Amino acid sequence: MVSMGRPIEPLTQRPVLAPGVPATDLFPRESWARAIARGGRLASGRKVEDDPLGWKPLRLAIADHIGPSRGVVCDPDQIMIVDGARCAIELILKLLTDPGDRAWLEDPGYTEARQAILHNGVKVVPVPCDREGLMVAQGERMAPSARLAYVTPAHQYPSGIVMSAKRRLDLLAWADRNAAWIIEDDYDGEFRHRGTLTATLASIDRSHRVIHLGTFSKSMFPALRLAYLVLPPKLVDPAAALRFALSGHTGVTAQRGLAEFIISGQFAAHVRAMRQAYGQRQQALLTALDLHFSDTILIGPDDTGLHMTGKFAAHITEAKIADALKRSGVGAKPLSAYFADPNYGVPGLVLGYAGWSEKALSEGVRKLASALAN
Ligand SMILES: Cc1ncc(COP(=O)(O)O)c(C=O)c1O
Repeated sequence: MVSMGRPIEPLTQRPVLAPGVPATDLFPRESWARAIARGGRLASGRKVEDDPLGWKPLRLAIADHIGPSRGVVCDPDQIMIVDGARCAIELILKLLTDPGDRAWLEDPGYTEARQAILHNGVKVVPVPCDREGLMVAQGERMAPSARLAYVTPAHQYPSGIVMSAKRRLDLLAWADRNAAWIIEDDYDGEFRHRGTLTATLASIDRSHRVIHLGTFSKSMFPALRLAYLVLPPKLVDPAAALRFALSGHTGVTAQRGLAEFIISGQFAAHVRAMRQAYGQRQQALLTALDLHFSDTILIGPDDTGLHMTGKFAAHITEAKIADALKRSGVGAKPLSAYFADPNYGVPGLVLGYAGWSEKALSEGVRKLASALAN
C-alpha cells in the first residue's frame, strides 16, 4: 500500500570524480521549477500532443540554438525529441540495421553504445583511435561495408581527443562511398574550454549521411532524459513512424518546460556559466593531480568537456586500480573498461570533474592517491 505523506527521497549523488556528472549543485533550481510548473499547466487539460517528432516549439527552440552554437543548420522538422541519447542510439539501430550487420565503434568507446549495438544483433567493429581520433583507414580495412559508424568527434569518449578536420572529411567520404550512416554523438561539445571550435560533422555533411545527436544530460542534468536527433531529410518519416510504433513520443510536460527555459534565454545563460565553472573545476583537478601524482600520471587532452583521462606512466595492474577505487570510495572509472578488449586496454583512469566543488575534487584525488600508494 502507498504510504501517504512520506517525503520523496532526494536523488542520490554520484561519488566524487565519477565521469559524466554535471554540476547539479550549481543548477538554477528555482527558475527550472518555474519553467516546469508552467509546462505542466500548459500541458494538462489540452488535447494530447502526439507528434512522434516531439513538441514543435521545443524543436524550433533547439534548431535556433544549434545553428549558431554547433553550426547545425536544419529545419525543425528534421529534429526528433527522444528520451536521452541512449534511446536515440537504440532507435537509429532499429531503423537502419539488420542483425548480422557491422557497426564501427571507437576503441576505446562509449560502453552503452556498444551494448545497444550488440543488443540489436549487430557486430561491433572496434576501430582504434590515435591522436586525430577514429582511424578511418583502419576501419576500412576491418569492415569497409559497415552499415554505420558511431563517433564522438567533438570530444572522443572517453579519451578526450578532438577529431582532426582531415579525419572528419575521410569519415564522411567513406560513408558517402559506401552508403553508410554516421551517428555523431555531440554529448558535451558545448563545453569547449580553449582552442577553436571544430566544425561538427553535420555542418559539413553534403551527402546527408550524418545523424547528429545532442543530449540535455550534460547541459541540464541526466535525470531529465531529454535528447534530440537531427535526421537527414529522407530518414524523418521512417524514424517518426518507428518512434510512434515503439513508444509514441516523449512526455510533453518536460518538453514544454525545456522550451520555456531555452526561449527565455535561461538555458544559454546556464551553459555559459557552466562552461566557466567547469574550466575552474578542471583547473582544480589538474592542480590536485599534479600535487598528489606529479609525473606518475599522464593527462589526456583537456580542451573540452566534463571529464579527462589520466594514464599511468609506469605499469600498474587493473586489479590494483580497481581495489584503490573501491577503498577510496571515489567514482573515477578504470580506462581499460572502455576498450573492446579490457585485457589490451591502457591502465589509467577516467576522471569526472564537473559535478563537485574544487575542495571536494582535491580531497577525492588525495584519497585516491593514498589508496593507490598503500
Ligand atoms: C558518450 C556519451 N554520449 C551520451 C551520453 C548521455 O546519454 P543520455 O542522454 O542517455 O543520458 C553520455 C553520458 O555519459 C556519454 O558519455
